[in-house]
Amino acid sequence: MAGLSRRSFIGVGAAFAAAVPEGARGAEAEAAARNPFLGTGGAPFRAGEPCLQAPGETTMGVSWAVSGLAKGVVEFADNPEFRNSKTVKSGGYGLVPIDTAALGVRLEGLRPATRYWYRTVTTPFTDYSNIYDAKMGEAVVGKVHSFKTLGAAAEGHVAMFCDTHAKASVCQMVAAKVKELKPSVAVWNGDATNTTQDKATAVKIFLDQPIDDADYSAEIPVCFESGNHDFRGSWISRKEEVVMPRHPAERDSSEWDLKWNFAVRVGDIALVGMDTGEDKPDAHPKWFGLANFEPYRRAQTAWLEKALSRPDIAAAKFKVVCCHIPLQPIDPENDDDGSTITPHGYARWQGECYRMWNPVLERHGVQLVLAGHRHRYHYNAPDANHSWHQVIGGGCDFGPGLFPTVVDCKVEDGRLHVVTYDVSQNTVVGDFTIA
Ligand SMILES: [Fe+2]
Ligand SMILES: [Fe+2]
Repeated sequence: MAGLSRRSFIGVGAAFAAAVPEGARGAEAEAAARNPFLGTGGAPFRAGEPCLQAPGETTMGVSWAVSGLAKGVVEFADNPEFRNSKTVKSGGYGLVPIDTAALGVRLEGLRPATRYWYRTVTTPFTDYSNIYDAKMGEAVVGKVHSFKTLGAAAEGHVAMFCDTHAKASVCQMVAAKVKELKPSVAVWNGDATNTTQDKATAVKIFLDQPIDDADYSAEIPVCFESGNHDFRGSWISRKEEVVMPRHPAERDSSEWDLKWNFAVRVGDIALVGMDTGEDKPDAHPKWFGLANFEPYRRAQTAWLEKALSRPDIAAAKFKVVCCHIPLQPIDPENDDDGSTITPHGYARWQGECYRMWNPVLERHGVQLVLAGHRHRYHYNAPDANHSWHQVIGGGCDFGPGLFPTVVDCKVEDGRLHVVTYDVSQNTVVGDFTIA
């Protein structure tokens, strides 16, 4: 830009426009009119309900859908009257990110196991074509919601669901049950999506579900773990634009790319999230060379050892590990463990993860593994090789033995009570306690 003043740089677009033929200029104007990053053009604007993501003891993510170019802040306070409230912008230092589809704000410096009240304030840019003269629409002030941060003093109560696969009727059954159970945190244990080729699809699934009880996650924070489908599609590698990763301060520099692994205290429960990745070996021709999950699983083995050794995690009476693909088969004789390349095979359970992670789970006394992927409820009791229970949640399919589930894990009288609900019938299909 040497030799060009700021003002002359701004004028470049106009100069270019003057130099192009009439017809092309019309096409350019039309393209500009369609570019949502140039503003809403005064079209009706909508900001969705907030979704609590990546919850921690002292941090909370707030993400929400927007219908056009907008900026957003979150106002929060430790009292419903918003006395001494704080206002937090999205992003980190420097330029505040704006977007045409989703906004996210991370609250930091919170107190553990403490209730906060909050609301989003979203302002559309009606015209951003001139950066020194952008025009803003009217701010949309969201409803007041509240949440409680996690921590050792929080209620030991976790609910897990999985394999909703963007089926609205299933998402509604799950959301209604989670809302009724009111856990301290919900775990969305993978296969939220099918194949994601654009951001709008991801926003609809994660932030703007077309269901009655979509607002459950405005008050109940959600920890997300990817399933194999959450790695499919030409857009999905950008999912952190919609699903907030864990706070970077939770991991050290060697773990920079473990963005969604979590280890948090939820009362007497240490809740740990692992990612089993795709369901076929990395060298499978169906991945076109795009799979890099084997080193990812190995890196998580080292992270798991460290996470379970953390004093606050080690001190928890109950240790619960969530991952999408089960660590034990339903049918030990016939279930593919995902370690060999075959034309139609895929991991019914994750043998590589079991072999790497089980010694760590055993060493640290993990009592429960929560998984999904099989689209059918199943319970694996501890056996000679592993001392943890495994509950596999149901998915989005219906039929004999097929139904969606919510697995409720609650500390009651010093025991972990694990109840699995068939949320299509609201019946209990599994019930056991861990002392
Ligand atoms: Fe699935
Ligand atoms: Fe799956």
